[in-house]
Amino acid sequence: MSVSVLVGSQWGDEGKGKIVDILSEQYDIVVRYQGGANAGHTVMIGDNQYILHLIPSGILREKTICVIGNGVVIDPTALLDEIALLEKNGIKVEGRLFISQNAHLIMPYHKLLDLIHESGENKIGTTGRGIGPCYIDKFARKGIKIVDLLNKRTLEEKIRENLKEKNNLLKKVYEREEIDVEEIIEQYLDFDKAIDQYIKDVPSYLNHAIEQGKSILLEGAQGALLDVDHGTYPFVTSSNPTAGGACTGTGIPPTKIDSVIGIVKAYTTRVGNGPFPTELTGEEGEKLRKIGAEYGATTGRPRRCGWFDAFLVKYSAMINGIDSVAVTKLDVLSEFNEIKVCTGYELNGKKLKSFPTDVERLDIVKPIYEILPGWNQNISACQSYSELPDNTKQYLDFISAEAGMNITIISVGPKRKQTFYVD
Ligand code: GDP
Ligand code: IMO
Ligand code: MG
Repeated sequence: MSVSVLVGSQWGDEGKGKIVDILSEQYDIVVRYQGGANAGHTVMIGDNQYILHLIPSGILREKTICVIGNGVVIDPTALLDEIALLEKNGIKVEGRLFISQNAHLIMPYHKLLDLIHESGENKIGTTGRGIGPCYIDKFARKGIKIVDLLNKRTLEEKIRENLKEKNNLLKKVYEREEIDVEEIIEQYLDFDKAIDQYIKDVPSYLNHAIEQGKSILLEGAQGALLDVDHGTYPFVTSSNPTAGGACTGTGIPPTKIDSVIGIVKAYTTRVGNGPFPTELTGEEGEKLRKIGAEYGATTGRPRRCGWFDAFLVKYSAMINGIDSVAVTKLDVLSEFNEIKVCTGYELNGKKLKSFPTDVERLDIVKPIYEILPGWNQNISACQSYSELPDNTKQYLDFISAEAGMNITIISVGPKRKQTFYVD
């Protein structure tokens, strides 16, 4: 039995939710380790679509235990809404979901500050879920944690302390109305009553589970190129979606991680601002968006679409230590006569040796493309690698060689059964 990390290997929305759901049949526990309700992980069970924002995508498998690690920032409203929605659909959450006492809480002022920052110049194009401001407070050592909900006096004190500063900022810098302290205290005391039952000492629980031979899947949100350290900064999220974040975000040490699974879309998408060398802004981009239904699962924003960038995925495989890859949305490419794959970048007439993460260079690099023939055939009913058309196999061989990835799972549609293993 093993401990595996599953990481989005591009700019998010690679289909992590679908693959976690498939894999969670083989794992005892699924754990989210970073991010918050900025994530939107879609799982389709029959014709029912579930979009999970905070709860691990393993929740749809009856026997799977789900855990939210300390690295996640939790908006109690979003969490309780999600629990209620699942319960309404007959999915039992009680007794199957645990939340780290050390996870930080998103407060109403985090969401407000996120929106205020985004209304100025230099927009990141965030999801507006308060993610950045919450992580700012965490690292400034002012954050309010899940454990604080357990002590009424501490909670009140911390909220008052934080609001003194935030109200000052809102009033004097942003010329906004102050936030009512009492209302927030009351609201968070209510959350306490609803959330208490889920709170756990997660590092002890998970390490004990490993000792007992249980298998654990660590579910990353967002993607490697949105990582605050390794992504296209400043157009990133405020956490570490890369595999390393799985240790700090759960309390599982690096020596206990057995493998890293990368999720890669057969082309590339990005939501929000920032460089995107293989972006298609014309008709072909529209076509990818339309066929791939590329609209944000959290905000509904149209996703920017472009060709597969093997140079980017090679970088991602390096920083994540990816052992095996699931390629998703291969079916979406079926209607293209020719498919381009980016194999490298040129800058000022010179081929770059390594992937540049600085926005200044990424904005002006020229992608080098290889053109491959399309397969012009519907592949969404294929049940095995051998059923795929030759040109599809050629495409997979090419991207795996260029990006240096070992493809083990292929997805040809949003449903569970539209998935197969490569032997
Ligand atoms: P995540 O954030 O990585 O979990 O990905 P999202 O759920 O935001 O976006 C992926 C979208 O693609 C969802 O609507 C999925 O239902 C859908 N999807 C996943 N795999 C496939 C696939 O192989 N083919 C098609 N056509 N859709 C897929
Ligand atoms: P999943 O887990 C795609 C993007 C936002 C924005 C940047 C910062 O579904 O793959 P934030 O609200 O995190 O401060 O926004 O990150 N972003 C995502 N893009 N998928 C996601 O999650 C994302 N979560 C955040 O669009 O560009
Ligand atoms: Mg998503």
